[in-house]
Amino acid sequence: MTEALPQEVIRIKRDGGRLSRAQIDAFVRGLTHDTWSDSQAAALAMAILLRGMDPAETVALTEAMTHSGEVLDWRDARLAGPVLDKHSTGGVGDKVSLLLGPIVAACGGVVPMLSGRGLGHTGGTLDKLEALPGYSVTPSRDLLLQTLRVAGCAIVGASERIAPADRRLYAIRDVTATVESVPLITASILSKKLAAGVSALVLDVKVGNGAFCTTLAQASELADCLEQVAQAAHLPCVALLTDMNQVLGTTAGNALEVREAIHFLSGKVREPRLLEVTLALCAQLLLLGGLAASLDDARRAAMQALESGAAAQRFARMVAALGGPSDVLRDARLPSAEVQIDVAAAGAGFVTAIDTRALGLAVVALGGGRQRPGDAVHPGVGLSQVLSLGAMVDAGQALACVHALDAASAQAAARAVRAAFTLGAVAPAAPWLVRACSPDAGPTHSATGC
Ligand code: URA
Repeated sequence: MTEALPQEVIRIKRDGGRLSRAQIDAFVRGLTHDTWSDSQAAALAMAILLRGMDPAETVALTEAMTHSGEVLDWRDARLAGPVLDKHSTGGVGDKVSLLLGPIVAACGGVVPMLSGRGLGHTGGTLDKLEALPGYSVTPSRDLLLQTLRVAGCAIVGASERIAPADRRLYAIRDVTATVESVPLITASILSKKLAAGVSALVLDVKVGNGAFCTTLAQASELADCLEQVAQAAHLPCVALLTDMNQVLGTTAGNALEVREAIHFLSGKVREPRLLEVTLALCAQLLLLGGLAASLDDARRAAMQALESGAAAQRFARMVAALGGPSDVLRDARLPSAEVQIDVAAAGAGFVTAIDTRALGLAVVALGGGRQRPGDAVHPGVGLSQVLSLGAMVDAGQALACVHALDAASAQAAARAVRAAFTLGAVAPAAPWLVRACSPDAGPTHSATGC
């Protein structure tokens, strides 16, 4: 039994050894039942970050974390279709969940999407939806089921009973510089999805200067690891790499993003990059879920759900069922910020680069995200009309509009936004938007991670 002692498990991984399933189970039990201290868990997390884990270890960690709490089973719930979900590794202006849930529901899937809050410079879907007055992200089990029956989708928070070992380990990793490890990220994401009982999953692995994975190589390695481990857990799963070198859509900030999502669903404005990423993810999920015969058919069905208004109706039903405005497409009752100022370009030219992380941090500084755990977020603040790469501007033309609580924070954000844009005389090549995950990543999930 000594080999499952915390200090032994830590020593083996520290020295580059392989952990047995029994040792990994002991670690996860220790996390769940508090028999491992925070410092022991942090030491093992750091050893894993530095030494990596092989696929079998990553699978064992994922399975143990999945079973550390409740595992949902929808088979008796008599839902109208396969239970499908999407997860994003996080970006700036990423409102795809608000669109994909209703689109997939309109195409016959059932989407109980257990989402998270903002992390670092990235926004969180729960914070966005809470901008809608009355919307509950913590419904009872009965209300969750009722919402899934009337809307086909319910975007809510995970209960504390889902993957509690991940909940504790994630909090420890967050403050010990051990988030950026491919096996730890993989086990964290997949344990929650497996515990949520989904029957197919599409993963949006963001790559670029506004993502946690900044290079294609890092993102490919993570995507490949996620697919391999999901396969070992018998979860049909596809990971797509999507661009995060610019804000997705034209807004970043909670209420602003919900408004953009409503305009998108109701057909008022569909920013082309947001449309492309959303359709690509929807199509993969519909195919995986057996709701389409080919990717082309799936894409057509997703587009039809948008054009017919069926997806917008699903969104409206979900919001009303979860306590939000009863007619959200007409009157979303979203809060707005007191001060709105345009950020004028200092010169003329093409937008050749955007520091997307800096834009995300500007939203956080405006009050749209948290600087400390438990901080309240201000739903109305953020950025709108954010220009994309390749846009041509004249001197004095707006790069974005800042929505702030007061003039001082508006000016500070305006300076950050201006500094985040690089203008040049030559138009940049059109950036790629969506890629399949690389098939040739190596067998060991490296130490470096994202
Ligand atoms: N998202 C998660 O859920 N877990 C991670 O470790 C990183 C991103």
